[in-house]
Order: sequence, then C-alpha cells, then structure tokens
Amino acid sequence: MRTETPQTLKLAEYRQSDFLIPRVALDIALDPHATRVRATLEIEPNPAGRVDVPLALDGDDLVPVAVALDGEPLDPQTFTANADGLVIHQPPRRPFTLTVETRLDPTANTKLMGLYRSRGVYCTQCEPEGFRRITYFLDRPDVLSIYETRIEADAAEAPTLLGNGNLVASGPVGDGTRHYALWHDPHPKPTYLFALVGGSLAKISKPFTTMTGREVEIAVHVEPGKEGRAGYALDALERSMRWDEEVFGREYDLDVFNIVAVSDFNMGAMENKGLNIFNDKYVLASPETATDTDYANIEAIVAHEYFHNWTGNRITCRDWFQLCLKEGLTVYRDQEFSSDMRSRPVHRIAEVRALRLRQFAEDAGPLAHPVRPSEYREINNFYTATVYEKGAEVIRMLRTLVGEEAFAAGMDLFFARCDNAAATVEDFLACFAEASGRDLEHFALWYAQAGTPRLAVTGRWDEAAKTYRLDFAQSIPPTPGQPTKRPALVPIRLGLVAEDGREIPATSPRLREDGVFVLDRASDSLVLENVPVRPVPSVLRGFSAPVRVSRDLSEADLLTLLRHDPDPFNRWQSAQTVAIRLLTRAAVDGTLAEEAVRAYADALAAFLDAEGEADPAFAALVLALPGEPDVAQDIGSDVDPDAIHTARERMRALVGGALAPRLAVLRERLASRAPYAPDAASAGRRALRNGALDLIAAADPAAGIVAAADQYDGADNMTDRLAALGVAAHTPPTPRREEMLADFRSRFDGEPLVLDKWFALQATMPEAGTLERVERLMADPAFSLSNPNRVGALIGAFALSNPTQFHRPDGAGYAFVADKVTALDATNPQTAARVLTAFNTWRTMEPGRRAKAETTLRTIADRPSLSRDVSDIVGRMLG
Ligand code: PHE
Ligand code: ZN
Repeated sequence: MRTETPQTLKLAEYRQSDFLIPRVALDIALDPHATRVRATLEIEPNPAGRVDVPLALDGDDLVPVAVALDGEPLDPQTFTANADGLVIHQPPRRPFTLTVETRLDPTANTKLMGLYRSRGVYCTQCEPEGFRRITYFLDRPDVLSIYETRIEADAAEAPTLLGNGNLVASGPVGDGTRHYALWHDPHPKPTYLFALVGGSLAKISKPFTTMTGREVEIAVHVEPGKEGRAGYALDALERSMRWDEEVFGREYDLDVFNIVAVSDFNMGAMENKGLNIFNDKYVLASPETATDTDYANIEAIVAHEYFHNWTGNRITCRDWFQLCLKEGLTVYRDQEFSSDMRSRPVHRIAEVRALRLRQFAEDAGPLAHPVRPSEYREINNFYTATVYEKGAEVIRMLRTLVGEEAFAAGMDLFFARCDNAAATVEDFLACFAEASGRDLEHFALWYAQAGTPRLAVTGRWDEAAKTYRLDFAQSIPPTPGQPTKRPALVPIRLGLVAEDGREIPATSPRLREDGVFVLDRASDSLVLENVPVRPVPSVLRGFSAPVRVSRDLSEADLLTLLRHDPDPFNRWQSAQTVAIRLLTRAAVDGTLAEEAVRAYADALAAFLDAEGEADPAFAALVLALPGEPDVAQDIGSDVDPDAIHTARERMRALVGGALAPRLAVLRERLASRAPYAPDAASAGRRALRNGALDLIAAADPAAGIVAAADQYDGADNMTDRLAALGVAAHTPPTPRREEMLADFRSRFDGEPLVLDKWFALQATMPEAGTLERVERLMADPAFSLSNPNRVGALIGAFALSNPTQFHRPDGAGYAFVADKVTALDATNPQTAARVLTAFNTWRTMEPGRRAKAETTLRTIADRPSLSRDVSDIVGRMLG
C-alpha cells in the first residue's frame, strides 16, 4: 500500500533531470483487463546533470513484468521495481536502451488518469502525471522525447486506433482477429502530451490546407450514431486553425489532427499532440440537445485545445509551477478567438463575470495562490481559475502595458526562441521586455502575488481650474503564506463622460494617449486638464486589470454611465454596481430601498426603449441582476445566503414588475420564426427573450409559469426549452412545474448530456426540499457516481451553485456534500477534490454556518485514508 504522506514541492528547488530520453518506442497491446505495454527507452546522461546518481523512473500503480538493459535481462540485484517506480542503482554513464514491460487493467482504472476505458473505448489522460500509470518514465515536462507508438487491439472491439503524430503503417495481425496501427510523432514532447485511443468510433472529417499549402486531414471521432452532432466542433476546429494562422501566424505541423469525444473525462478536454481528447459535452451538439451556451463552450474549448499546439506543445513548460505559461496564455488566445467570432464587448463581460464568480472567490479564500504557485503538494489541484483565468488577464494586461505592436513582436520572439523547448514565465517575459524595451520586473509581481487588489478611486472637479483630479489607492489583502504585499502595477483605462453623454477629451502628461494610466504605487493621483463641465469618470474601462474597484460615484452618476459611456463594459458595470449596492444594503439591513430600485428600473426601461433591440445580447446582460455570489463577495464576511436570496428575489420582483409591459412586447418582437441557428446574434435574441421571461415570472409567478409552459411546449431548440424549464423550476411548487420536469426527464431518456441539465437545474432550486430532491435524483438510473459529468451536474451543481441550500443553516447541505466527497475519493480523487472546493467560502459565513462547515471539514480531515488530492484541499481549507 502506498503511503500518501503529503510532500511539498517547491519552485525554488527545481533541478534539471540527470537523464534524458530522446527517443521512446511503445508497443501497446490493448486488452480490457490485461493490456501489455512494452516500452523501449533510449536513455542518456544529461550533460548538465549530476554524474553517478541512480536512475529513478516514476511509476504509479504499475505491475512490472520484465526489465532489460541493452537487450539483456537486468540482474534483480541492480534495480528495484515496484508499483511506484523503477530505480536502476548504477546506470551506465553512456547512452543505453532500457526495455520495460508492464501490465495494466484499463477497465479497473476509475481515476480516469493513465489508460482507461470509457463506454468501452480505450483512451488515455496523461496530464499532469498520468503517463507514469502506463509505464515507468521520467514523468516531468522538461524531458522531451520523440515517440513511436504501436497500438494493437482486437479488430472488432477497437476498429479505430489513434496515436500522436502521423500514421505510418497499419494492418491485420496474424489471422486478423487483431490488428495494429503504428504512429510516429516527429515533434519532441513531454509525457503529458502522449495519448492513444482504441475503440469503435464514427468519424467526420474534412481537408484543411494550411497557409503554406500543406494538406491536413482534420477529423472528429464520436460514438457511432452521434456523427450528426459533431459538425459544429469540426467547423470550430477549422475556424480555429485559420484564425491562428491569420492572427498569430501559427501553422499546424502534422498531416492529421484528430479530436475524440469520450463520455468519462475528469476535465473539459486535453491537448495531446495531434490527438485531442474531449469530454463529449464539449463536442456533441444539436439544436434539440444543446443550448447556445453549449455551442459557445464547444467553440471556445475546441479552439483552446487547438491553440495549445503552439502554446503548450511546441513550447511547453519546464515544470508544473509554470502551468500558467501554457494555460493563461492559451485562455487569452481562445478568448480573443471567441471575441473575434462573436461580439467582443459581450464576450468581455462574460469573461469578467466568470472571473469574478470563480477566480475572485478563490483568491479571497483559503485556497488562494499566485498565478504561478511557488509550492504544491498535489498538482492536480492547481488547474484553477487563478492559473487559467487570472493567468489570461495577466497576458491581457501585458498587452495593454506594452501596446499592440510590441505585444505581437514579443509573441513572435517567444515562438521563435522557445520552440521545442520547456520554458518558464521568465523566458516568456524576457521576450516582451526585449520587444518593448521595458523593464517588466514590477509587472511580473502579478505572477507571484496572490489576492485580488482593491482599488479605491475618488474624484473631484475643480470648476475654477477646469481640472479633474482622480485619486487612486490600492491594497492587496493577505493570502495564505503571503501576509504582506507590494503594490501591483495596475493599468487603468479611463475617460471622462459629460452628463450630456459626450466624452470629454481629458489630457495629462501622465495619461497615455490611449487613455491608460499606469498605477505603480500604493496611492497616486492624476490631474486631468481642460475639463470645462462636471464629468463622470469612467475608470477601469474594458476591465483593464483584475481588481476590485470602489468608486465614490452616486447612483445617479452610475446610471449616467449606463446611459452614455462609450465603453460598453463600463455601461454594464455601472448598472451592476448600482444593483449590488442596493442588494448588499438590503441583505445586511433587511430592507430594500424601493425608491432607488425604481430609479434603477427606470434607467433599465429607458435603456431598453432606446436600444434593447439594437444589441440584444448586450441588453440581456444589462438586464440581468448580479448573482447572489456577487453580493456575497461584496459583503465579504458574516454572510447570510438566505438574506441575500430574499433581497435579490424582492428586487427581481420589483424590477420585473416595473418593466413587465415592455418585456412582454420585447418577447413578441424577438420571437424567431426562422429555424434555430447557433450564431451569436440569434443567441443574443434568445438570451434577451429568456431574460425577459425570467423577470416577468419574478414579478408574477402565476403568469410566469403559464408563459414558461407555453414556451417549453412550443420550443424547437434546447436553449428556449431549458430556459423555460428553468423559469418554471424557480416558481413556487405547483403540479404544473413538476409535470414539466417529468416531461423533460422522459423526453430525453437515453440522452445523458441532456439529463445533466435536468439534474443541474433541480440541484440549484433555491428552496427547502432541494437536498431531499438531490438525494432522490441520485437513485435515478441515469445518475452514476462514476461519471464526472453526472457528479458535476448533480452534486457539483448543488455544492457550487446553490448557495441557500448548500449553506443550509442546519448544516445538512455540508454533511451531504462531505459524504459524497468521501465516497468519491475512493474511486476518483480528482473529482472528489473539485467538489470539495465548494467549501471555499466557509470562513465568510455567519458564525452558525461557519461552525457547521468547520465541523464538517474536520470530519473529512480526520478520515484515515484520504487521497493526496482531498487531503491537500481539506488541509489548506482548514489551515
Ligand atoms: N490541459 C487541459 C487544458 O487546459 C486541461 C486538463 C488538465 C485536462 C489535466 C486533463 C487533465 O486544455
Ligand atoms: Zn489548456
């Protein structure tokens, strides 16, 4: 039995590998329970490494069968091989060949790391440390090898055999009951990018001609019968490949690019070289089964994984501390792609909403860590919103700071200089320092300091001098291991808006021509000249830095910005700020300022009348009240989720009531007569129409459920059907509501991805009885604890997206989730750890809930055999 003593790895202790493995040949004979892996490794001492040290290859849960060195069986005295590794005590000081055979049971692999089976399909997941569950190796990202992979399988069980790189040969083996495929990947890569797939799969494909005229076959493989749902993913892939050529000058570098959809996958998708493996929820889509959000996610994730081919694969990470080097940069790239494919301002708002919901919450709690962590116990727990989303914001700030041109030059330099290498954040930043001629040392703090900076902005107009003075003050709250912080370098894009809506051209020697002021100390002021009328300042336009801002603006000034700000992000933000203020006050004092709510609703009404139909996607965002977590973050401590919920429901009802006649008209005018299309403009009309329905139902639940039922019955697409069901599910309990839920269940029987929506919808119902409902749903035959999507839809949604019921004052929500986490931990620790992160906000709760949460966490921590994944999370949560 393996001991799971948590060992902390430190960035500062990085050391090069003492050995290199330039080439590897794998010969893998697939079998449901006894897969044979023969690995032939060409090993050599690293000239930069230490001499006379043992060779220690990583292993995890391996069964060694045979070991040979240069073709001779190794003397058992000279090596140790067990489940966790293979050590050769005195390896040759020259290049040598090591041949190792291991045997695996892919059917028994419930962790979904290494080689496993998903609905009969053999597949692999190696990032970050799954390759060591396939064979002994130097399983670290700075050891790059050229791979040749021979895959053999039963021809009937696995007619499709896919590997990294290009197909070299294939054919029958012996009498033809088995067959093989030989794949060669000419690009040196680390272990985590290795992949293979074997199974019965259907394929759609098309040719792609690259910018230099090379022919590539691009393909998507799915469960037979699902081909009709793979077209959008293939289309997104083609658009991604073209976009990366046009925008970043990056060309694809193999003869084939394969995407495979599997049903059991811990994450979204994986960028294995030439063979991306996807969670099928990010591949399969049809109008009847997928929402607009699903389509947008598919487009973004297909692009993300494809973009990794350059940012991640061709240039990889020296060690896992550098994870943001590939992830933050690749998220930035996929966000840019989606912005170009859709509406840039609308996408920006969506990015910021997601950042605040997940990353700001993470940064404010016990799991807070820098974009580049300096230590970890379990790397699986660092695939976080901070590494990904804040990592992308840091890249965006870098671009703002150095400007478009130097940013493009820096990227080109990075691609040229670090190609085929395992790089660091320092290597990356050096390219931009060189391209821009700037010192980026202060900027680099964004990688090292955790916590969301708070920025306070106050302003004063001097009528006599015709100047406007802005005072800025920043501070960064303490985070685990970082009690004190240095001020960050904050690029603040800003402008002045006159009350009549004109932009006042403000000037100052300290304001860049593009409207950016760079704050580089704890406090500073900026005096803008030639300001003839009292302006309303618009700061942090486009959300130019991932900070929390407090402004000294009145609600009337904020509503002026909603009306007139040329920056669409700040228009939306101003309305949100007003609403958050009202909700926070109401949740804390128990009374909603109805007069102020009316002014807010009037402003929304004026906005809708003036331009509701001009950009429906934007209007839908403006109309949506901030979420309960936004309010909880604003309150920050002694949070009572019920008070927040009550305040928000009350405000929704008031706003819905004030806007109802308009919203009804809007719904009529936005109704579509054309067949469903997933493009952003059509999706925007649906979003506004469904947002309107939601507000109408908030004001008048009886009318709401009738309208919802109507839309549900008549819908020709999942977006409208699910939105209607969602509205119904949030009305008070009625037989009609339950009938609709039952109808959905039977209508989509046999459609697991659709039933996930049904699970999640019910798991997030904000009412007493939801926990019991969730417990009931766990017995539904469509539910399974072994599938990460089902777990996420039911247990994950309850824990992470149902604030009032997860945080029930009696602690039953906590106890339920803890129970499921410990059950899951035995089979799939990674998924268990992710669900457990729902406790992240426990310290911000009011004392009663806080005590209950702490007791629950301690109960988990006290269990005897926790995985490293769960023990790391629970340890930091209590630490
Ligand atoms: N590297 C993957 C991505 O961001 C995510 C992933 C991590 C998938 C670990 C599986 C395991 O695209
Ligand atoms: Zn990624």
